[in-house]
Amino acid sequence: MSSENQTRAQFTHMKDGTAEDWHTIAASFGDFAKSLPDRIMDHLKLLEGDFGGFKVDRMTHCLQTATLAHRDGKDEEYVVCALLHDIGDTLGTYNHADVAAVLLEPFVSEENHWMVKHHAIFQGYYFFHYLGLDPNMRENFKDHPYYKRTLEFVSKYDSPAFDPEAETLPLSYFEPMLRRVLAKPRKSLYKKAMSEEA
Ligand SMILES: [Fe+2]
Ligand SMILES: [Fe+2]
Repeated sequence: MSSENQTRAQFTHMKDGTAEDWHTIAASFGDFAKSLPDRIMDHLKLLEGDFGGFKVDRMTHCLQTATLAHRDGKDEEYVVCALLHDIGDTLGTYNHADVAAVLLEPFVSEENHWMVKHHAIFQGYYFFHYLGLDPNMRENFKDHPYYKRTLEFVSKYDSPAFDPEAETLPLSYFEPMLRRVLAKPRKSLYKKAMSEEA
């Protein structure tokens, strides 16, 4: 049903909402939630052609990071984290790692979430000194349980993924993985309500 013809709630202030109103809204939320992978892919595609001074555009960088992780035998959830780790570059100009981490948080393990959230600090090891920043900022986390995981991500998959000649699998290759990982949230404020709706 097009959004024009959808049944709508009757209230103009939430204080007047009824069970029927909220049933209508919950049904609409269910349809919208199912198309989240499409919106994520559309947003990822915004990185196409955006080079930001690098040798490859940001989309290629994301695909190549995912390709490296996949070829190295990482599991599907990890590969999807690799694919989306820089999706925040468009809106999170000053905190891109946080944006990706927030999008992934309902669907991934705590260690994968932490890895994505902190990848920018860990990657700074390679260039922060050129910008007047501390390249060893990541050492603040050296005793953290996910330090090694994040170090591996930036050193093996993220940082080498700027090579125009290297293998770069297309988004269509990763799409089924993305859809599977985003199919069911593990945590969400609305999780209980969603399972009752389903
Ligand atoms: Fe990044
Ligand atoms: Fe990156």
